[in-house]
Amino acid sequence: MAGQTPTGGRADAPLVFPLPGQEALADALAQALAADRGELLVRSFPDGESYVRVLSPCSGRDVVLAASLSPPNPLVMPLVFGARGLRELGARRIVLVAPYLAYMRQDTRFQDGEVVTSAVFGDLLSGFVDGLVTVDPHLHRYRSLDQVYRVPSRVVHAAPALARWIAGNVESPLLVGPDSESGQWVSDVARRASAPHVVATKRRLGDREVEVDVPPLDAWHGRQPVVVDDIVSTGRTMVRTVRRLLEAGYPAPVCVGVHAVFAGDAFTALQRSGAAEVVTTNTIHHPSNRIDVLADVAASVTALLADPA
Ligand code: R5P
Repeated sequence: MAGQTPTGGRADAPLVFPLPGQEALADALAQALAADRGELLVRSFPDGESYVRVLSPCSGRDVVLAASLSPPNPLVMPLVFGARGLRELGARRIVLVAPYLAYMRQDTRFQDGEVVTSAVFGDLLSGFVDGLVTVDPHLHRYRSLDQVYRVPSRVVHAAPALARWIAGNVESPLLVGPDSESGQWVSDVARRASAPHVVATKRRLGDREVEVDVPPLDAWHGRQPVVVDDIVSTGRTMVRTVRRLLEAGYPAPVCVGVHAVFAGDAFTALQRSGAAEVVTTNTIHHPSNRIDVLADVAASVTALLADPA
């Protein structure tokens, strides 16, 4: 049996440091890992530069930096400064827990001159941490996270938790993937929930504009549509899919997303679109969170520290 620290955590558990605004994530991880919370002081100077100070002793300890990267940019400088500070103060290994991993969607050069930001971001963070745990990163053109990050990583798949929620809460569901990128993934959730699925076609016209066409659905009348997607950012993909399903005579769809990014007015727009319910996992803290994946994230942290290969 591992010993306890004076503050009640397991002595062999990593210290969990939240980045600003990530306290709920850090609390959930610390509880699941029976770990102590560490503290970073992060503030901005009047000129906008970041000030970071490590307030908890970390010498010889494994540490977790808890930071779901949405929105990413305000967290990035505190993250790299915090990681460097922890390293200088003797932290043994630094694991970044980013249940939502940003900058994965620009995974190629769609137009001349574009920067493939996923690669640059992966390169940057890999220089500051020793490991990474995330949930369903947007792997479309990359086959695995190892193509982007050069530190060991563990990926938690939300599909089992989504399928359990759908099977337990929706009667006679028909799963709808809004685009071809979601196809393989939605079919996995559908198989686990013992439900049929269809995949729509999406054309992106701009950052906030998409067109979605749903395939003929006559075979599935009487079923409750459940739109499933990985990232809900502007929400336009889901809003369009909901509209198309309503136009096809279906009951108000349930919308299930993994990552509740909800940029700007996205959540309100989706609630007003005619969706019956909007449900997400807790990779990003949000009122729509109904599906827990953080217990699996904590288990992956333990697995990564035990076997970092
Ligand atoms: C696309 O590649 C993703 O899987 C999502 O469909 C997309 O991120 C949704 O974006 P938005 O909510 O802005 O339509």
